[in-house]
Amino acid sequence: MEFLLDNPYHTTNPAQSEAVGASFAQYLLEREPHGAFVAMYGDLGAGKTAFVRGAATAIAPDAYVQSPTYTVVNEYHGKNGLLFHFDMYRIDDEDSLDSIGYWDYLERGGYCFVEWSEKIPFALPDEYYRLEIRKHADDDNARTITITKEHI
Ligand SMILES: Nc1ncnc2c1ncn2[C@@H]1O[C@H](COP(=O)(O)OP(=O)(O)OP(=O)(O)O)[C@@H](O)[C@H]1O
Ligand SMILES: [Mg+2]
Repeated sequence: MEFLLDNPYHTTNPAQSEAVGASFAQYLLEREPHGAFVAMYGDLGAGKTAFVRGAATAIAPDAYVQSPTYTVVNEYHGKNGLLFHFDMYRIDDEDSLDSIGYWDYLERGGYCFVEWSEKIPFALPDEYYRLEIRKHADDDNARTITITKEHI
């Protein structure tokens, strides 16, 4: 599947959302060889972690991706690049970001996937991808995933 920015991808199960993640990660590997920042937005249970699991199949195929809910960040050294998976749910200010070494991660040239980017509007890089996963009110398993490229 060739990935397209700005295109709404409709999925009806987690495997399809993972496939969109894999396709986007392949796009990143080709176009952003020095890494990228992906700010993820979407409700609890929208499928952000599922998406990253799919992205990992392209960047770090041997990674076993689990939610970084308690660790805030999980790091995977894949054969195709570094993958940093953040969950900012419990982060509220710059101090708590500093204490996990956030800024150092951004300089390491990896692919940063950041769940709950809503929590860190003050700490987004100048250039990033914005990923939105929307649930549908009328169907528990339906999602719409849209990714745009943003410049500050
Ligand atoms: N189309 C779909 N895409 C992704 N997940 C789906 C889909 N349909 C159902 N699901 C279910 O939704 C849940 C998504 O969970 P996941 O942990 O990926 O969400 P999350 O956005 O990371 O949540 P949190 O904010 O709690 O970290 C899983 O239980 C998954 O099985
Ligand atoms: Mg999650």
